[in-house]
Amino acid sequence: MGIQTAAVLGAGQMGSGIAQTLAGSGIAVLLYDLNRNAAALGLKRIGDSLNLLIGKGKMEDKQRSLLLSRITISTELADAQAADLVIEAAPERMAIKKELLAELDRVCSPHTILATNTSSLSITELASATGRPSLVIGMHFMNPVPVMPLVEIIRGLETSDATYDQIRQLSLAIGKTPVEVRDFPGFVSNRILMLMINEAIFTVYEGVATPEAVDEVMKLGMKHPMGPIALADFIGLDTCLAIMETLHHGFGDSKYRPCPLLSQHVKAGWLGRKTGRGFYIYP
Ligand code: 3HC
Repeated sequence: MGIQTAAVLGAGQMGSGIAQTLAGSGIAVLLYDLNRNAAALGLKRIGDSLNLLIGKGKMEDKQRSLLLSRITISTELADAQAADLVIEAAPERMAIKKELLAELDRVCSPHTILATNTSSLSITELASATGRPSLVIGMHFMNPVPVMPLVEIIRGLETSDATYDQIRQLSLAIGKTPVEVRDFPGFVSNRILMLMINEAIFTVYEGVATPEAVDEVMKLGMKHPMGPIALADFIGLDTCLAIMETLHHGFGDSKYRPCPLLSQHVKAGWLGRKTGRGFYIYP
């Protein structure tokens, strides 16, 4: 039968993008967050994103209403009980994600697949928080989820072939291209991308160039759609720092040390677009 119902935990930019993408492919989605405001904000973000598509003549009002009708918001984890698949998109902290997965393991039906959208953490360790490691898998989407075609799929040590096959098929069904990579810190995407972003921040830290100049070099010289500093603000500087810390800790190699300027911005609460200020200011 495949996956018909899903729950997405975390209604932030990744969670809402995942919910939008799933609902756009006919899947009934429960969008969960800790408080009602956060969940409602996630739903609003989806509505706004669909309005953009309508504005560009790529979607009709009827399609927007149909897509939104497939999404229900919730603050009760138990509502995820009957879902075929749960995708957690909580903050990038091992303790938070393990606690969430352990709770999901208790409330969800025994057949529910527990996927994590972690951007760098060990799937094997996350799976160990549950009594169903064969049903735990990494499903790593890229931001903005509705636009980026990649899904990195990562098996933990005990992920079953059946779980992998279902997630691979689902990725294809929602219009994404799955790429399987192994369970090592940062997988492939963030092991490479974050090193570039961190190095870009070092060039600012060392006074080699301004953020604007770094971004111009990479956009005009390498044809990147966004410069690395603007991309860091877009991803969230707290997420970038968490990923660098995972890489640094996981490999024990100083090439992954987070730039002090990145840490300082996070300490200041300048987390990028989502807080209105990162390396750039967002009115
Ligand atoms: N929903 C649906 N469609 C959307 C959308 C959304 N939320 N946001 C943008 N789009 C569509 C637009 O409609 C537009 O479509 P069109 O070209 O057919 O008209 C297209 O995407 C481009 O959008 P815009 O014209 O508004 O803006 P840009 O051309 O500046 O593109 C961008 C914006 C797609 C974000 C582009 O700058 C880009 O690709 N940036 C790099 C993003 C990237 O590298 N992401 C990966 C980050 S790493 C990650 O996520 C991993 C994590 O673990 C950290």
